[in-house]
Amino acid sequence: MTMRRIDTRIDRTTPTFATNVEAYRELVATLRERQQIAIDGGRGRATSIERHHARGKLMARTRIDHVTDANTPFLEFSTLAAWGQYDDEAPGAGIVTGIGIVHGVPWVFIANDATVKGGSLLPMSIKKHVRAQDIAAENELGVIYLVDSGGAFLPLQDEIFPDRDHFGGSFHRQARMSARGLPQLSVVLGGCTAGGAYVPALSDEVIMVEGIGRIFLGGPPIVKAALGEIIDPDDLGGAAKHTRISGVSDNIVATELEAYARLREICATTNCRNIGNEPGWIDHADTEPPAYPAEDIYGIINADSRIPFDATEVIARLVDGSRFAPFKPEWGTSIITGFARLHGYLVGIIANNGIIFSEAALKATHFIELCEQRRIPLIFLQNTTGYMVGDDAEASGIAKHGAKMVAAVANATVPKYTVLIGGSYGAGNYGMCGRGFDPRFLFAWPNSRIATMAADTAETVLVDIRRAGLKADETSDEQLAEIARMIRHQYETQSDPYYATSRMWDDGLIDPIHTRDALGLCLSLAARQDEPAKGPGIVYRM
Ligand code: COA
Repeated sequence: MTMRRIDTRIDRTTPTFATNVEAYRELVATLRERQQIAIDGGRGRATSIERHHARGKLMARTRIDHVTDANTPFLEFSTLAAWGQYDDEAPGAGIVTGIGIVHGVPWVFIANDATVKGGSLLPMSIKKHVRAQDIAAENELGVIYLVDSGGAFLPLQDEIFPDRDHFGGSFHRQARMSARGLPQLSVVLGGCTAGGAYVPALSDEVIMVEGIGRIFLGGPPIVKAALGEIIDPDDLGGAAKHTRISGVSDNIVATELEAYARLREICATTNCRNIGNEPGWIDHADTEPPAYPAEDIYGIINADSRIPFDATEVIARLVDGSRFAPFKPEWGTSIITGFARLHGYLVGIIANNGIIFSEAALKATHFIELCEQRRIPLIFLQNTTGYMVGDDAEASGIAKHGAKMVAAVANATVPKYTVLIGGSYGAGNYGMCGRGFDPRFLFAWPNSRIATMAADTAETVLVDIRRAGLKADETSDEQLAEIARMIRHQYETQSDPYYATSRMWDDGLIDPIHTRDALGLCLSLAARQDEPAKGPGIVYRM
């Protein structure tokens, strides 16, 4: 072994450790509870689920289960997209996305949930759909669309139809991926109208299920209004019509289960192992579990988020054998940089230990460039209040040094992965590869917080601005106190991880103890190796 084992300093017998564990278990319980609501709850959804079952249709996640190989992992993204939005009537944004394994090969799945607004796409649904396509494009994976959607959610058409990453953008992506040889396959399991019709129509191969699958540019009401024709939906755009007459569909099957068997046959003919990077370009060795249990993380993260924790202890619970080769450990210590293996893959890790000072920014820049030069993927563990401010910091050139780090991150072409393990504030979010810097995946822990600045800082800054501003004379102390209260409330609400995941600023919230496996799966996609197929049959739900 060429890397030394991290010696943990954690004492599991202290009362603080026990308190922290208890508090974190509650965070995880809340996460599971909310994910379950998104899966089978949602206001007023019981009737639509009943109606869905009465029509003999399967739920979106069950459909995916029928396609994927038995006992293989599934990585589900953004389970809590749209959480708390749209009057809580769109659990999961009405769409299920993730990566699953078919015949040992990873595929991206995009499955509409027709029990949510008829599977029509709200703004967050189209964001989730497009994000899944981007994941496929970047990781060079084929896409399986399980289509059961009323198309655009018409009342909010201005937020889903015309812009770059709206409906048009999703079709653009689909056509471009197909041209690159990334297979685009559709199973039609509901009424696909107008925009919805283009998902199957742009696919390389289409399967339609008799009795439930329909494709039409305008449904019967539109046809009646426009042409005065009265026509039954199946006659207009059913499976028989499109497979035997129009040729829009390539296969007709009698049941959903037959559709999934046929889909698996088609997947086996796509030759999609041989796309993209040379298999095995990332240095890979035999894997070993960390020396310390992942559950320790619950006790390492203080129940009081203002009390810092040592990221080295987190690294020790994520990497193989808890072995870590630090880079420049004696300098710029508010950032930890170094090499490790994760599920056998050689990675560079950059983790915050608090505020980023000039030296730390320079060290991180140096390390990012080193990993780029050596073609080693980067993992960012974010827990920072941002770059240091103040006279000394400015004199040390923090603005330029921070910018160098930001530029290095932006220009690093190796696969990058980010996990928000604590605070993600200010430009620290950028330098540590936040969403704007296109990490291949970004996951967040349920204790994380994300905002331009922490709530108490924002309160001070904005109240001071008001005090010094033009209306200072007209503002009473009571009004200032009210302004302070409102700002604090706003910042606390908006930096909450559920607010963030609802808006898909991440690919989902993840239980810390699943982080190692999720990152391993993501790395194996970049490495183009078949490792994920060998993982346990767990759903890593985010
Ligand atoms: N926009 C907004 N809401 C829609 C919608 C759409 N495109 N499609 C369906 N919905 C809503 C319905 O209003 C209903 O809402 P509610 O639960 O609040 O009452 C819910 O989804 C279920 O729709 P319903 O028609 O009762 O379900 P169904 O299973 O019988 O039919 C569809 C589903 C998708 C086949 C049917 O709703 C449909 O044809 N929708 C319109 C499709 C269309 O014209 N799209 C144009 C896209 S550009």
